[in-house]
Amino acid sequence: MRASRYEIFMYASIAAVPALIFLIFLSTYAGASAVASALSYLLIIAMAVFFVTGAKEVFVHARYQEGARPILQGERRVYPHMGRPIRGAEVVSLNVRRFNSETNKFDEASYKVNATKHTTVLGALLDIKSYSDNTLSVRCNCRMGICGSCGVVVNGKQKLACETNLLESSENGSVTVSPMLGHPMLKDLADNFDDFFKRHISVSPTLERKDVKEKYAAKQEYKMSKEDTDKFLPYSYCIMCGLCLDACPVVNSNPNFVGPQALSQAYRYHADKRDQGGKRRLFDADTADGAWGCEFAGACSSACPKGVDPAAAIQLLKSDIMKNMLEEE
Ligand code: SF4
Ligand code: FES
Repeated sequence: MRASRYEIFMYASIAAVPALIFLIFLSTYAGASAVASALSYLLIIAMAVFFVTGAKEVFVHARYQEGARPILQGERRVYPHMGRPIRGAEVVSLNVRRFNSETNKFDEASYKVNATKHTTVLGALLDIKSYSDNTLSVRCNCRMGICGSCGVVVNGKQKLACETNLLESSENGSVTVSPMLGHPMLKDLADNFDDFFKRHISVSPTLERKDVKEKYAAKQEYKMSKEDTDKFLPYSYCIMCGLCLDACPVVNSNPNFVGPQALSQAYRYHADKRDQGGKRRLFDADTADGAWGCEFAGACSSACPKGVDPAAAIQLLKSDIMKNMLEEE
């Protein structure tokens, strides 16, 4: 069996003890030259640092090991207090609904985590993964609300785990986290975003220009006034986290509905003066499962962590479709 980092530290520290005694003897009594003596002292210092580091690692690892043994309570796996005690920390029960792809059911797991005022839900999940249960799966990347990877449901509300404070979410000392159910689930808290990106791509979410060559060899910048920019800018802040799609009651009852994220991006490019997609963007959205599928529940806008307001974008899209129809009559 492969030795862990901690075991290597431990055995190397033990092996260092006779070497230390030998070096002390050599430099003190064996009449070594000044250079050999200085070298010996340097080696002694290095060995001492190695010894202290090894001992500390073994101690810390032993503490984590103490807290890493799950206790079975019925069908729930409960992990006792784990990790180093942190001054000012509170112990929070993090209840995780883990999707099991083999049984297609959820397993309930509960972990005790140390939470300071800075601990995020993602931080706590990654601590569990590092020190207590490395089988736990969660999607994440930037840990700063930019990549859109860490969407989960915290106490029944769609949230970015990296932007959600654990203590502030705690209700009577416990927080419940589950995967977003509106996306196909992969494992535990990780969702499959293939369908989400298919919807996104279906609205051609790039600037369309008639002169294709100009895209690659533009001779001048596209000038935009502040008014022009304001029309689409709020909708360009989408980080594709999928929270709005998960929150949307219409998508959850009619999977053919394109959904708030894709439609808000359709409006974002339609409202951009530089885009030459023209009326085609309006025709594409003018369907029962497109803009007209939206029932204006507003759940998407409440869930959006970036203030994109997809519900408003869809209503603006509807309004432009109507204006275009009136113009054509
Ligand atoms: S509109 Fe908001 S909630 Fe929806 S994917 Fe974009 S950032 Fe996420
Ligand atoms: S990890 Fe990137 S948004 Fe949360």
